[in-house]
Amino acid sequence: MPFVVVVGIQWGDEGKGKVVDYLTEKAHLVVRFQGGNNAGHTIIVDGKKTALRIIPSGILRPDTRCLLAGGVVIDPSILIEEIKSLEQNGITVTPKRLGIAGECPLIMPYHIGIDQERERKKSLTGTSIGTTGKGIGPTYEDAVSRNGIRVSDLVYLDKLKEKLEVIVEGKNLYLKKVLGSELEYSAEEIFKLLTEQAKIIVPYLSNISQELARAKSEQEFVMFEGAQGSLLDIHHGTYPYVTSSSTVSGFACVSAGFGPKSIDYVLGICKAYSTRVGEGPFPTEDTGYDGEKLREIGREFGTVTGRPRRCGWFDAVAVRKAIRINGIDSMMITKLDILSGFKTLKIGLHYLLDGAPVDDLPLSPSECGKLQVHYEELEGWTEDISKVTSFDELPVNAQRFLIRLEEVTETKIGGFSVGPERSQTIVLSDDIKAFSKNAH
Ligand code: IMP
Repeated sequence: MPFVVVVGIQWGDEGKGKVVDYLTEKAHLVVRFQGGNNAGHTIIVDGKKTALRIIPSGILRPDTRCLLAGGVVIDPSILIEEIKSLEQNGITVTPKRLGIAGECPLIMPYHIGIDQERERKKSLTGTSIGTTGKGIGPTYEDAVSRNGIRVSDLVYLDKLKEKLEVIVEGKNLYLKKVLGSELEYSAEEIFKLLTEQAKIIVPYLSNISQELARAKSEQEFVMFEGAQGSLLDIHHGTYPYVTSSSTVSGFACVSAGFGPKSIDYVLGICKAYSTRVGEGPFPTEDTGYDGEKLREIGREFGTVTGRPRRCGWFDAVAVRKAIRINGIDSMMITKLDILSGFKTLKIGLHYLLDGAPVDDLPLSPSECGKLQVHYEELEGWTEDISKVTSFDELPVNAQRFLIRLEEVTETKIGGFSVGPERSQTIVLSDDIKAFSKNAH
């Protein structure tokens, strides 16, 4: 049974949670490997909505164990809130069902304050990133500069107190002197809170690298669930308008502690059009009628922040880049149903910069801003496709659209979805069918 990595291959919100939920019917383990509660999945099962921010959506499958690998940043308050809310909805989250790596950096209250105050300050000069304000960037910064607090620190509370005193003093100074903020944190109060939170979180601690080595040797089916999208990757995304973690498939290895040769399949999730939340380059954005229509019909509002998402057409150049940096084996095209009723559909085929063709996203945001997109137009369809159960049942123009996506990205379409329910995901690839059905 394989190790399968599922990643978004646009700017996030591609519908990964729903696809992972569908595919994990038989998974032994579902692992999140980056990001934090800046991600949000809304999963609908039998008409009942569950919103998840940090715990993998595999938790909804009673026989699946979920893991948070060391590259995930955890806000302990949010994690505890989520565990409680799942339990109130009848989903038990015992340490048997959820394991957390000791390496995970903790999001502290001052990280959230710094994130929001920085954005506020930057907004005065029009340079804000449009972060989710959840403290993600400042937490990763501290981890990299070796000033972080990790889940494993919750085991050694006596040492944590001293560490916090030094860190919090520095953060308060930074907030006041550099950011001009009135926010001030108390090491004492944070320590008190962490002491309480430790009682709930410590029992979930697990050696994830060892668990995965065992899973590999016992040929278990493991699904690695990416958050955000490849074009928000800290290295390869539209920097600086990116998130602070690596969102690409290779990071699953780094985060969870296994070698790259263990990955058997990389599945890219991609909407039939494009969206982006926050600031930054978005060459195929449609700020007119079609963009508004996509947002309205596609209900394109952030799960975490509620912000309206910017909408536009499928960008083949950007998706090709994401396919390349992830080593995508096949793509799942989500939200195909949202395109029903558009007379003409567009696919961004390539860019022009000052009249010259460009076949990749430029590194400079200002060059990205100057890109012109060369579009191909396809005839749309009017039929409601939300009940189709196979490729053949799709209207011929919808079939043509999918085939064209396959051609322009030079990548196989492994499936597509026509609505939010589990039953509205149609898998075409035999590989995906094999690993999602034959495990356990
Ligand atoms: P941060 O991750 O909160 O630091 O935000 C950095 C950028 O990533 C902003 O443009 C956010 O809107 C974007 N972002 C973060 N998480 C998500 C997500 O789950 N979906 C889409 N965009 C996201």
